[in-house]
Amino acid sequence: MSASDVPTMYPVRPSVPSTARALGAQFGEAIAQLGETFRRIVSGWPEAGLRRQKRQTPQVVVVTGASAGIGRATVRLLAQRGSRIGLLARGKAGLDAAAAEVRAAGGEALPIPTDVADFGAVERAARQVEQRFGPIDAWINVAFTSLFAPFTAIEPNEYRRVTEVSYLGYVHGTKAALNRMRTRDSGVIVQVGSALGSRAIPLQSAYCGAKHAINGFTESVRTELMHEHSNVRITVVQMPAVNTPQFSWVRSRMTNHPQPVPPIYQPEVAARGVVYALDHPRRKQYWVGASTAGTIVAQRLVPGLLDRYLARTGYDSQQTDQPVSPDRPANLWEPLDGPGGEDHGAHGVFDNRSHSHSGQSWASRHARTLASGLTLASTAAAAQWARRRVQR
Ligand SMILES: NC(=O)c1ccc[n+]([C@@H]2O[C@H](COP(=O)([O-])OP(=O)(O)OC[C@H]3O[C@@H](n4cnc5c(N)ncnc54)[C@H](OP(=O)(O)O)[C@@H]3O)[C@@H](O)[C@H]2O)c1
Repeated sequence: MSASDVPTMYPVRPSVPSTARALGAQFGEAIAQLGETFRRIVSGWPEAGLRRQKRQTPQVVVVTGASAGIGRATVRLLAQRGSRIGLLARGKAGLDAAAAEVRAAGGEALPIPTDVADFGAVERAARQVEQRFGPIDAWINVAFTSLFAPFTAIEPNEYRRVTEVSYLGYVHGTKAALNRMRTRDSGVIVQVGSALGSRAIPLQSAYCGAKHAINGFTESVRTELMHEHSNVRITVVQMPAVNTPQFSWVRSRMTNHPQPVPPIYQPEVAARGVVYALDHPRRKQYWVGASTAGTIVAQRLVPGLLDRYLARTGYDSQQTDQPVSPDRPANLWEPLDGPGGEDHGAHGVFDNRSHSHSGQSWASRHARTLASGLTLASTAAAAQWARRRVQR
C-alpha cells in the first residue's frame, strides 16, 4: 500500500488543514517504508535485477551428504513430496538407510557412494541420476568434514583434505549441476552454509575457511548467471548450530567431546530452511535461527569486539565437560558408516538441549505476510493518528 492510499481507506474530513494532512501522509509513508525495511531484515536482502523465479516443486534432486545430519533430514522432507532423489555420500550403511526412508515416505531413491572431493566421481553420479530419473531440477550441496583443533595442531594434508571435501566438494557439485542446468536454462542450486562462513571462530580454521570460500565462490557464480540472464538460480542457507552426528565423528584434538555452540537447533529446523530455499531460490541467502542473524549482524557492526569475545569463550563453548580420546574414530579420510559401520541418522547426541523450532526462521519464511500485516497495522495507526490530529 502506498502512502497516497491512506486518505482513501480512512477518509479525511474536508475541513482538514492542509499542513496536518501533509503531516499525516508523510507519517504514513514513513511507516510504510518501515514495514518494507522490516520485510527485508527478516527475509534477507533480495537482489535487484533478478527476475522472479516461478514457484515450482523440484522433482529430481541431488543431495550430497544425504546419509546423515542436515542432508538426511532434508532428504526425508523431499521424500514426503515424492521427489526422486540422488543420494550422495560415502558410507553404505547411512546411504542404504536413507534410501529405505525415502522409499517408505513415497519418494524414489538412488544411493550412489561418492566422495565429493573427487570431481570425476561427482560428475559420474550426476550422469547416473539423470539416466535413472531424468533431468536434474535441483542440486543441494551439504557434504562436509572438519577438524576441531588449533591451527598449529593441524597437519597440511589434513587441512587440504577438509578444504577438498568442504569447499571443493561444493565447487564440484555446483559444476556438475551447472553442466546440465545452464544448457536447459532451468534449475536450482542450494548451498548449505553456516554463520561461521561470515564469522570465524577458534578451533575450526579449516572449516571456517571453507565456509567463507563457499560464500565468495557462490557470489561470483551468481553474478555470472545474472550476467547471462540465466534462469538457473543459486542460493545459500546460512545455518546455526545444529544437533547432528558431526560432533561425534569429526576428527578432534580437543580434550573434551565437541559440541555445537548453543543455541542448538534440531536438523529438521535446518532442513525446513533448505527446502524453503529450494522452493524460493530468488534470494541471495537465507539465515536460519536467531543466532545466525545475530552473529552475521554483529560481525558487520563490531567485528573486533567479537574477536575478543571468541578468544575468551570460543574454546570452552565448543566442548562439553566429557573427556574424549584424541584417537576416537573420525570420518576425515574414510566414512564411519562404511561396510561394517552403522547408520548415524540425522540427529546427534544433543537432543535434550536442542530446539525443534526457530521463530526467526518462521518469520523469514512468512516475511511477506508479516510485512504486509505490519504495514497495514502501521498505516492504520498512522491514519488514525492523523485523523485525531485534524479533529482537534
Ligand atoms: N551441524 C551444525 O552445527 C552445522 C552448523 C552450520 C552449518 N552446517 C553445515 O551443514 C552441513 C551438514 O552438516 P552436518 O552437521 O549435518 O554434518 P554430518 O552430520 O557430519 O553429516 C555429513 C554428511 O556428509 C557426508 N560426507 C562427509 N564427507 C564426505 C565426502 N568426502 N564425500 C561425500 N560425502 C561426505 C557424510 O557421510 P559419509 O561420511 O558417509 O560420507 C554425511 O552424510 C555442512 O555443510 C555444514 O557445514 C552444520
